[in-house]
Amino acid sequence: MALNDEVRSYWEQEACGTQKVVVGEIEKFSREWFEKVENHRYQVEPFIHSVAQFTRHHGKKLLEVGVGAGTDHLQWARAGLDCHGVDLTDEAIETTRRRLEIYKLSSNLQKIDAETLPFEDNSFDVVYSWGVIHHSEYPEKIIAEIHRVLKKGGTFIGMMYGRYSIASLKMWISYGLLKGKPWRSFTDVIWNHMESIGTKAYTVPELQSLFSSFENFEGTPITTPAELNHLPKFISRLIPSSWGFFIAIKAQK
Ligand SMILES: C[S@@+](CC[C@H](N)C(=O)[O-])C[C@H]1O[C@@H](n2cnc3c(N)ncnc32)[C@H](O)[C@@H]1O
Repeated sequence: MALNDEVRSYWEQEACGTQKVVVGEIEKFSREWFEKVENHRYQVEPFIHSVAQFTRHHGKKLLEVGVGAGTDHLQWARAGLDCHGVDLTDEAIETTRRRLEIYKLSSNLQKIDAETLPFEDNSFDVVYSWGVIHHSEYPEKIIAEIHRVLKKGGTFIGMMYGRYSIASLKMWISYGLLKGKPWRSFTDVIWNHMESIGTKAYTVPELQSLFSSFENFEGTPITTPAELNHLPKFISRLIPSSWGFFIAIKAQK
């Protein structure tokens, strides 16, 4: 099976952030269900608002690559952008469509593999992609497509995983050290055990090189509450943000 087919079947089972521990027995696609998903997302990833700055882009034309459950897509639509969104799965497109319908908002949503984007060159003011590109077989193809569809001066905002992070170390302890396989690399455990198969993670210089066709690249590592939650407070306070699993990215065409 091609890697992106395996990635698709993984994410078809459940849109990101809609697992039972979050929504319990609440009726799927009800307003209450969506609100649970939204509250949970911004509790565990509170920094998304300051990275995305949704309302700052009011009136702009936006493409979101990998909408997932559509929680951030809802914020873009609420902020008054002309919204377009793509995802590899029917589950993500349907969840996002139902979510916007509840709030009487709209977006042009399409199920496609973002390695090829069905949009004209120089079409969007903003392209946003949070936690998506590293799942694809050829991330560099998605980045080249994002560059192509952005207008000159347009902005990419996103997040990709960081390799040398607390989350990676925890995964290595679980799947390498404690399984008697300390020789496994961070790359290997992330590829095999982080969400869908084939997940990649990067250093900031590697991301800078992937985004070399863009101007004004900024890669900012962020430690997540999930990374720090099992550590004693006095230790977690000492951990620098450069050890964070999320690398927020901003770059311009
Ligand atoms: C971790 S989820 C993130 C979803 C959402 N951006 C969020 O932050 O909750 C990854 C999403 O990326 C989508 N995805 C993975 N590879 C893709 C590709 N090649 N093209 C489009 N979407 C893709 C998956 O279907 C899934 O919905």
